[in-house]
Amino acid sequence: MAIPQAGPIFAFMETSEHILAIDVGGSHIKCTILDSKGIGQMEYKRVPTPMQASPADVMRTITELVKNIPDYGKVSVGFPGYVRNGIVFTAPNLGNSTWGKIDLGQQISNLLKRPVRLINDADQLGLGVVSGKDFELAVTLGTGIGTAVMMDGYLLPHLELSHHPISKGRDYDEYVGNRALDKEGKEKWNKRMGKLLSVLKAVFNYDRLYLGGGNVKALTIPLDDNIHLFNNQDGIKGGAKLWELKDGYHITTNYPQ
Ligand code: BGC
Repeated sequence: MAIPQAGPIFAFMETSEHILAIDVGGSHIKCTILDSKGIGQMEYKRVPTPMQASPADVMRTITELVKNIPDYGKVSVGFPGYVRNGIVFTAPNLGNSTWGKIDLGQQISNLLKRPVRLINDADQLGLGVVSGKDFELAVTLGTGIGTAVMMDGYLLPHLELSHHPISKGRDYDEYVGNRALDKEGKEKWNKRMGKLLSVLKAVFNYDRLYLGGGNVKALTIPLDDNIHLFNNQDGIKGGAKLWELKDGYHITTNYPQ
């Protein structure tokens, strides 16, 4: 007779193999449900990020976002700042000084009652779009500039390239982020993008560069053949990749308390 095995403590919460993938952005917080291979199971959903969003605002927005969505067993979150082991250290584009050592992974896990993995937003999107071969870079053009660096599909986490000064002490966010596009206009912004892309090319000697984020649609400069465009809906599939590794990328799995 088979001896009944004790289930994992949180088995009751993992009723579904599906993953809720959330992308916290400077302008919108988006989500979808993925299967374990990263195939979308629902329409991509998004709600505006509150102005000057504090941790409590982000939690409230996530509560709103996940209303009436299909079931899921675990959660992946991309966050626009430096994140390590589920803890948020910075959030430059949420414009609120209350971010700093916030255990957001744990808070989201307690809220949604599911295990959560939280990582930098560009890292999650990058994992979703790279080919997984050779040395690849993903860069997102939005409120801020996100960067993800991958070798044979393995992410090298915590690189905040956007805060590297590129011109007159301005970092990438200041030079080609949303505000610069609005202020300087498309033509000047494209000139600046040309400079940024030539710097990235010379510094990284990448095999492929993937460009995503809302502002790729403003790009008019010619791009090398090894530069590919992607949209956030493709990138959010990286949420499934986060659960493929037992550990790695400096991710901690946060469980509901
Ligand atoms: C942040 C990055 C983030 C990027 C895009 C930058 O300001 O420092 O961590 O990936 O914006 O959201």
